[in-house]
Amino acid sequence: ACGADSPPRSNAKPGGYVAPDGPEVAEAERERGSGPVRTVQLTAARTPLDLGGGTTVTSWSYGGELPGEEVRVTAGDTLALTLANHLPEATSAHWHGIALRNNMDGVPGVTQKAVAPGADFTYRFTVPDPGTYWVHPHVGTQRDRGLYAPLIVDDPKEPLSYDKEWVVVLDDWLDGVDGSTPDKVLGRLRGGTRHRRGGMASRMPMGAESKLLGGDAGDVAYPYYLVNGRTAKDPSGFTARPGDRIRLRIVNAGGDTAFRVALGGHRMTVTHADGFPVRHTTTDSLVLGMGERYDVLVTAGDGVFPLTALAEGKRASALAVLRTGSGAVPAADVRPEELDGRLVTADRLRAADSVALPSRTPDRTIRLRLTGGMATYDWAFDGKPYSPDQRHPVREGERVRTEFVNTTSMWHPIHLHGHTFALGATPGGPRKDTAIVLPGQTVTVDFDADNPGLWMVHCHNVYHAEAGMMTVLGYR
Ligand code: C2O
Ligand code: CU
Repeated sequence: ACGADSPPRSNAKPGGYVAPDGPEVAEAERERGSGPVRTVQLTAARTPLDLGGGTTVTSWSYGGELPGEEVRVTAGDTLALTLANHLPEATSAHWHGIALRNNMDGVPGVTQKAVAPGADFTYRFTVPDPGTYWVHPHVGTQRDRGLYAPLIVDDPKEPLSYDKEWVVVLDDWLDGVDGSTPDKVLGRLRGGTRHRRGGMASRMPMGAESKLLGGDAGDVAYPYYLVNGRTAKDPSGFTARPGDRIRLRIVNAGGDTAFRVALGGHRMTVTHADGFPVRHTTTDSLVLGMGERYDVLVTAGDGVFPLTALAEGKRASALAVLRTGSGAVPAADVRPEELDGRLVTADRLRAADSVALPSRTPDRTIRLRLTGGMATYDWAFDGKPYSPDQRHPVREGERVRTEFVNTTSMWHPIHLHGHTFALGATPGGPRKDTAIVLPGQTVTVDFDADNPGLWMVHCHNVYHAEAGMMTVLGYR
């Protein structure tokens, strides 16, 4: 079925992929670990959700909760997670950031058949690396409903010491508000109108912040921005004691919003980017594109402190509250001064020595131009809309360099499945799976092709991906 030069393990035939499942996959799974099997049940269903402050919507979520209940395993464990689909549409579960066996990656049409309404599917794979990850569907615009949950992989030899852990999931929300759905929004965007809503967003004073990094960070003005499923009017809280060392695991699960995050009264020490350790770097604020994660350590002060996530360029923000003592609840639109202090973006970080990608000359360079425009809404790579049969070939064992050349006026957080790249062409860049490519910029990433299969590369803006900014890397 394949080209004459394809080795037998390649099943990358156009149209109908059969994921590799021979002895070499069993062997690779053994290398990932031999820990216990963790059995988890995840039900995707349409339920009412309380966003706080009297706002209730009916939407799609995992287990009727927003975010879905955290999935927690230890590196080396086998996760056996049964996804029960109670939705009216086919769906899937994708394990964002995990270098897992290809046939469990959750991409319908590429690695599996979508899970039909009423059906269930058990994902079973060994989890190789500790870190902060998350799960979401890989079907259409479903991700911009409430279908997301944090996936935390503990390190059996955790080198950090801390007292408490605070998982902070950021999101932009429109589903079920005044009949809004992500599909309707995509239809309007394709018809050439930006999604603008008045009145409901929490207003922030206009500042230079919206253009801090240049260009447009998103297309859609959402009525709500959430931290851990709550609006700024009735924010979620986290309680600790003064002096506690708290590890924040921050996840941007938004569909179309980059967030700038700061914790009032605190400096943050960045310890991990996209789950992988970095050389500790202290900062006032951080920017997360859609799909990115950062872990930071803070030493808690005494009082009540706002954790503000500013929606870049949208004059709105999300809020959560850290409580260690007494004090007034912060106003919904509070703007801690740390938001305008030192800012960390991924290119300012260095990989921890333990995970630095060894320096090596690339065997292959793939250059992808990010193309498209707001008026035509034709986001793509190299001007070609997504087709699952068009693949960029790589070979096992290669060092692959990928260059993302942003020719557009928008931000694109680009995500690679199944691998963790090193950011930047100079050795020692942070290990990541998602990288913001700013307008006019070229971002270079290097990775080792060590996980055979078919792997998506796409913009993590859900509307850009659906419009066509997706492609596939195929091992041959
Ligand atoms: Cu988080 Cu292909 O996605
Ligand atoms: Cu994009």
